[in-house]
Amino acid sequence: MKHRLALIGFGNVGQGFTAILAEKKEFLARKYGFECEIVAISDMAKGSVVAPKGLDPHILLSRPGDLLSTKESKDALGIIRECDATVVVEATYTDLKTGEPATSHVKAAFETGKHVVTTNKGPLALHYAELLSMAAKKKLYFKFEGTVMSGTPLISFGMQNLAGCNFSEIRGIFNGTTNYILTQMGDGASYGDALKKAQELGYAEADPTGDVEGFDTMGKVMILANVFMDGKLKKEDIARTGITAIAVDDIKRAAADGKRWKLIGRLRRDGDRVIGSVTPEALPLSNPLSSVYGATNAAQFMTDLLGEITIVGAGAGRKETGFAILSDLLDIHRMIG
Ligand code: HSE
Repeated sequence: MKHRLALIGFGNVGQGFTAILAEKKEFLARKYGFECEIVAISDMAKGSVVAPKGLDPHILLSRPGDLLSTKESKDALGIIRECDATVVVEATYTDLKTGEPATSHVKAAFETGKHVVTTNKGPLALHYAELLSMAAKKKLYFKFEGTVMSGTPLISFGMQNLAGCNFSEIRGIFNGTTNYILTQMGDGASYGDALKKAQELGYAEADPTGDVEGFDTMGKVMILANVFMDGKLKKEDIARTGITAIAVDDIKRAAADGKRWKLIGRLRRDGDRVIGSVTPEALPLSNPLSSVYGATNAAQFMTDLLGEITIVGAGAGRKETGFAILSDLLDIHRMIG
């Protein structure tokens, strides 16, 4: 079957995914029998289009203005409801205060019988149980690999490969931007230059305050609590400190003491409670997380059956998060054919 996709949001992630399609179309068809068409796009800034016959990914990337129109009369919700997509790919900006507009997009997709793949952290952090139940009632797939550690398969690893384990703690480096900044500062760059570079490389959120003040990691801690620990953590329950108070001198002092600063997100069980935190920590070099550099992320699961298990890989980036969308689509493809 040919999957018909509606891309809601055509920023870094939507374009990263489209670039993968442009590059790998034949390979995906030959190797996995996976074929898809982009039949609708809606982007707040770039415009929208509904194209039941499909859009050429090469033109979308090189001359988006030829295809996207700011005069399209329907908004994203109208497009989701009325287009004939089989899967809605939700990749708009994250809002961790309300989860909107992404949560309404996801609901509209389920209401009209469409599977959802999303990289948006808001709906997963704030409305996970409700959305999962909507999808289950309609027998639809709800996939969200790209919400934590971009395309590195942390979510599917925990849900599938570690199924059957209980987790007493999950901790790690969950934000690419801050880890990139801390690494660059360790190599002598200023905070401002390192942040600018992280934005250019497509790591940072639309508003990078979310990264450097620890909100992005907080959102990911909430997602991991929902998915793996039935935690239902609220923002106000999570102690949060970002990296803005760390100066180059702090990094030099830590290095002289054989330590490296990392922004650590942590979830741990304490009796019936799940406790979440986001804090910069100066880790000794003996801690494997201290050797995770740049936009790379890492997660450590403390399991009852397997002890400690660590997954390390890309944490942010256009193609890296675009790949998360592809891997979710391929999973849907494997399940529904
Ligand atoms: N801004 C996020 C980061 C993007 O830097 O990790 C990936 O969630």
